[in-house]
Amino acid sequence: MGLVDLVTGRRGPSGFGSSSTAEDVTNGIDASNLTILITGGASGIGAEASRVLAMRGARVVIAARNLTAASEVKNAILAEYPKARIECLKIDLSSLSSVRSFAAEFLATKLPLNILINNAGIMMIPYELSPDGIEMQFATNHLGHFLLTNLLLDKMKETAKESGIQGRIVNLSSIAHIASYSGGIQFSHLNDKAWYSDTRAYSQSKLANILHAKELAMRFKAEGVDITANAVHPGFIMTPLMRHTFYIMRVLKFFSSFLWKNVPQGAATTCYAALHPSLKDVTGQYFVDSNKSNCSAYGRDPELAHKLWTFSQELIDKHSPS
Ligand SMILES: NC(=O)c1ccc[n+]([C@@H]2O[C@H](COP(=O)([O-])OP(=O)(O)OC[C@H]3O[C@@H](n4cnc5c(N)ncnc54)[C@H](OP(=O)(O)O)[C@@H]3O)[C@@H](O)[C@H]2O)c1
Repeated sequence: MGLVDLVTGRRGPSGFGSSSTAEDVTNGIDASNLTILITGGASGIGAEASRVLAMRGARVVIAARNLTAASEVKNAILAEYPKARIECLKIDLSSLSSVRSFAAEFLATKLPLNILINNAGIMMIPYELSPDGIEMQFATNHLGHFLLTNLLLDKMKETAKESGIQGRIVNLSSIAHIASYSGGIQFSHLNDKAWYSDTRAYSQSKLANILHAKELAMRFKAEGVDITANAVHPGFIMTPLMRHTFYIMRVLKFFSSFLWKNVPQGAATTCYAALHPSLKDVTGQYFVDSNKSNCSAYGRDPELAHKLWTFSQELIDKHSPS
C-alpha cells in the first residue's frame, strides 16, 4: 500500500484500506472461541481493539499498568456489550520483574491463550533507564514484550494443540522503524546517553518489534509450532502516545491531516492481523492498512533478527533472579 492508497483510502488486495475500521475488517467474524491478551489495552488503539475483539465475542484480557484506566475501558465495553468477557491485569512492561509477576498471575487463571497482541508502547521520551537499567523505549516496547511472549509461549502452544486453532502473535510496530540508528540496533551502545536520540531510540524499538515477530515466525516454522507471528504499522493516529511530542505532532497533523487516521481506523490492522481468516498460515509478515507491506531492509534481515533474539535473551538472563 502506497501513499496514494493511504490518502485516498483505496482498498488493497485484502479488500481493506486505510479508511477501513476495526469493525469493518472483523465484520462477520465469530471470535467467541478465542482468548486474546492485549497489552496497553487501556487507551488509544489498544482500547478500541479490545472493544472490537470483545464485540466479536472473544474473551479479552487487558494487560495495563494503569488498572483504573483499564477498568474504565472494561466498563465502557460492558455498557455497550453486556455479554463481553473482559479481565484486567496489571503489568509494567518496563520492569522485567513486573512482566514475570504478570505472567505468573495470568497463568494462574488457567485461561487458554489463542492470541497475544503486543501493543503497549511509549514514544520519543527523554533519555531514561528502566528499573533494570535498560534504555526505556527498548525496555518497554521490545524487551518487556520479548519476555512476556516467551513466558506465555507454552500456554499458547498448549492452547493451539488442544483447540486445534492456530495461535497468533501480533506485534505493534511502526513505519518509524525505518529511521532507526545506523546498523539497525545499537547493540554496543544501547544504554549510552551520549548516543541517545529520542526519535531513533523509538524507531529502534519499533524495528525490534518487527525483528522479534520475524524470528518468532522462523522458530515456529522450524519447530512445527502452530502459531503465526506478524508485525503491523497501525497508521498515524492522535493518541496519548504523542504526549512527549504533543506540539510537534499537532503542527504536523495540521499540515498533513490527510495522512492521519481516527482511532477506529487505527485499530483496524491490529484486528485484521489478529482475527482475519485469510491470514491462516501467514507468518513473518509486516502489515500496513490491513494489507501485506514491505518493511525496511533491516526489518527483513534474518541475521539481525537472530542477533537481537540472542542479545535480548542475554539481557534477560543477566536480570533474572538467581
Ligand atoms: N498512534 C500512532 O500514530 C502510532 C503509530 C505507529 C505505531 N503505534 C504503536 O501503536 C501502539 C499503541 O499506541 P497508541 O497510539 O494506542 O498509544 P497509547 O494510547 O499511548 O497506548 C499505549 C498503551 O501502552 C501503555 N504502556 C506504556 N508504557 C507501559 C508500560 N511500561 N507497561 C504497560 N503498559 C504501558 C500505555 O499505558 P498508560 O496509559 O499508562 O501510559 C497505553 O495504555 C504502540 O506500540 C505504538 O508504538 C502508534
